[in-house]
Order: sequence, then structure tokens, then C-alpha cells
Amino acid sequence: MSSSAPRRCPVLDPTARAAHAEAAALRAEGPAVLVELPGGVRAWSVTRHNVIQALTGDPRVSRDFRQHWPGLADVPEGWPLAPVALQQNFLNAYGTEHHRLRRSVAPSFTPRRVEEMRPQVQATADHLISTLAELPPGESVDLRKALSLPLTITVICDLFGVPDFLRGPLGAAIDAVLDTAADLERGLAIQTELHRLLTRLLRHKESHPGTDLTSDLITGSAADGPPLSEPELLDTFFLMLGAGYETAVNLITSAVHAALTHPEHLGAVRENTIGWGDVIEETLRHQGPVNYLPMRYAVEDIDLGDGVLIRQGDPIIIAFAAAGRDPELHPQNPDEFDPTRASKEHLAFGHGPHFCLGAHLARLEAHIALATLFTRLPHVALAHPEEPPSPVPSFIVNGPSSLHVVPTPAAAGQRE
Ligand code: HEM
Repeated sequence: MSSSAPRRCPVLDPTARAAHAEAAALRAEGPAVLVELPGGVRAWSVTRHNVIQALTGDPRVSRDFRQHWPGLADVPEGWPLAPVALQQNFLNAYGTEHHRLRRSVAPSFTPRRVEEMRPQVQATADHLISTLAELPPGESVDLRKALSLPLTITVICDLFGVPDFLRGPLGAAIDAVLDTAADLERGLAIQTELHRLLTRLLRHKESHPGTDLTSDLITGSAADGPPLSEPELLDTFFLMLGAGYETAVNLITSAVHAALTHPEHLGAVRENTIGWGDVIEETLRHQGPVNYLPMRYAVEDIDLGDGVLIRQGDPIIIAFAAAGRDPELHPQNPDEFDPTRASKEHLAFGHGPHFCLGAHLARLEAHIALATLFTRLPHVALAHPEEPPSPVPSFIVNGPSSLHVVPTPAAAGQRE
């Protein structure tokens, strides 16, 4: 680790209870601040918009731990960040290899291909929201479980041809993997279970191939190079399903929460003064669904100025959700949710060669979920407006761990 490293090294809160406050404190400290991650691993946390943008587009920064992280040998077994930081797929590939592997799935996520998914996403949202509409007036439901999760899971699982019997268990295993507060023993158990389920998916699709992206990856028909090895295949399933399961779900849940706690902006959407697109972009800026996505490594020494020198091989973690709240970028009340603001610039989907492959799909899912929910259930309200929802206990994803709403309020005479 760099000799220029400061002596004090804050521990990043693995439960991310106050992620925005933590990011603000780190942002004030410098362009990059050395922090301690679970397992005692140290990395440079980057929370300023301009530095995030520069480093994510800089070829001197790599996500490839095999090529560029000398500290890999010291990582303890069961390290809770291993499933994300050490996955062997294009998320953690570098240069031309990254480009080649990304191309094996990228054509399925272009704006045109995503637009073709619209009827199916709409049908799934209609079905889920009809179920909410049938609840007795006054009954509450967790919207994350009843709408956001089943919508995003259904879309990504249909695309990848995941059989019904694996959808629930895989969802639970991927949830567990993102628990950055797990200890090493639990981390190992979670990783073993995830590996078992992904292998089951592979075996199932080998014997039941279909017209889906999992089958395409297995036969290699989606790639233009040598077929993926078994570990690469399993980790590519994990990347695509994990990204599909765990990100848009937070965008939808956070956006519904923002709309319900800002009736003036919900009113503006209803009057067509602003659109759902404004609410979605402002939610991405204000509550970026991906906080840190470990990790990156300096390919050579990088001088960030202000006395911060990142040495070759040092790990770097980028706080994507922090960029949109940077007062340098948004001097006007960056912590306030305001979909009417002129610039809602953010880096919620990243930047540079690893820019999110699912950005169009996530925006489509969120748009359909919000428009359908508030049209079909115009009186939907928070069940506990006085209690802010608690965040998912992870510094990887950012969003409410549950959101209890009353889809159809009780008639006046029915209220207690
Ligand atoms: C609101 C929802 C989403 C957010 C906020 C989000 C955020 C991000 C971010 C920040 C990155 C960049 C990672 C980095 O540079 O280190 C990324 C990459 C990625 N995302 Fe998303 N994502 C979302 C939805 C999705 C969906 C629905 C999919 C799947 C269909 C997806 C698939 C991917 C993939 C495959 C990558 C890796 C790209 C690469 O390494 O070349 N994402 N995402």
C-alpha cells in the first residue's frame, strides 16, 4: 500500500446505515481517502463526482484483480466482498478482454432490444398491480416484495430462461451475497450455496436448452471468441442475474417512496408539468441504487493532487451513489429530492467502459412500474409515513429494505 497513505484509516460501515453522511465526510477529506473494508482490506474510497468520472474512464485503472491486484494473495477465505470483487466475468475484465466478453451479451440490451421487452414488462406490472388492487381497503403491503422485486426478477429471469423452481432460491442467495456485514464463516456458507444454485442452473439449461441468454452463453453462440469456461459461465450468470435482481428493485422502491413523501412533485407529474422520467433521473441522482461496487486497482501510480498518490496495485472503490450528491456538481441543495431541478446529472450507472449494460432496461422497468402503480392506484399511500424506511444493510446496494404502503385507503368509516 502507498507510502503516502494517511495514518488514520476509517472503517467503512458495512451496514451502510448512514451512507450519504459517511460519503459526505469522506468527500470533504480529499479526492480519495483510504478506508478499511470487511476482512481488513484497505482501499481508496472515491466520492467526488469529477474524480469518479476521471478514474472510471482512465485506462490506468482496472477491475481485473488477477492482473492488477498484488494484494489478492492476502484475502481471507470467505471474504464477504469476494462474490462481487472476485467474480470472473466481464465486470472484472480489462481492456480488449473486457470488450470481447461484454459483447457476448451487450446486443441484447440495446435501446431497440429493450423497447421490444416493453409489452412483457407492462404485462408483468399489470398483473402484480392488479393483485395489489384486490387487497381489502386499508390493508398494507410491502411494495418492495409485492412489486419491485417480482417485476425485476421476472424480467431478468425470463430473459435468461431461469426455471421457476430456481427463481426464489437464487434470489435469496444473491440477496445474502450482498450482505457486506456477514462474517467470514457466514460469507463462505453463502458463497457455497450460491455456487450450488448457479451450477444447478447450468446443468438444467444444458439438458433443457431454450431460446434464452443462458442457453446462448452455454453454446457460445453469443460470443465471438472461445466459449466461456465453467467458472466464467457461472460468474456471468451471477453478474447478469445479480445486476437484474438487486438494482432496479431499489430504483423503483426509492422512487415510489420519494413520490409518496413529496406530494407536490407527484401532483406535478399528474398535471404533466414534469414526467416520470424526471422522477426517475432525480431518484438516480439522489438515491443511487448502487453505492460502492468493489473494486478497481491502479495499473500504475496515479497522482490525484492534494497530496494523494495512489500507488500501482492499490485497490480503489468508487462510490457511485455519492457522485450525484456532490455539492461541487449540484451546489443547490444536493441532499434534497427535487425532480424539477434543471440538471439531475449523476453517475448512478457508472461511466467509461464498464457503464451499466442494463441502464435502458432499468429505466423502462421503473417507468412502467411508476406510471402503472400511480394510474391504477391513485390513492396509494405510505402505511407508516412517520417512519423513514431502513436501508438495505449493504454498502453495495442502496435502497429501502422494505416499503409498506396501503394500496387502497380504508373508507372514512372503516378507519380506526
Ligand atoms: C437502476 C438500476 C441499475 C443501476 C443503478 C446499475 C448500476 C451499475 C453501475 C454503477 C455499473 C458500473 C460498475 C463499475 O463501473 O464498476 C453497472 C454495471 C453493470 N450493470 Fe448495472 N445497474 C442497474 C441495472 C442493471 C440491470 C437491470 C442489469 C441487467 C440487465 C445491469 C447489468 C450490468 C452489467 C452487466 C454491468 C457490468 C458492465 C461491465 O462491466 O462492462 N444493470 N451497473
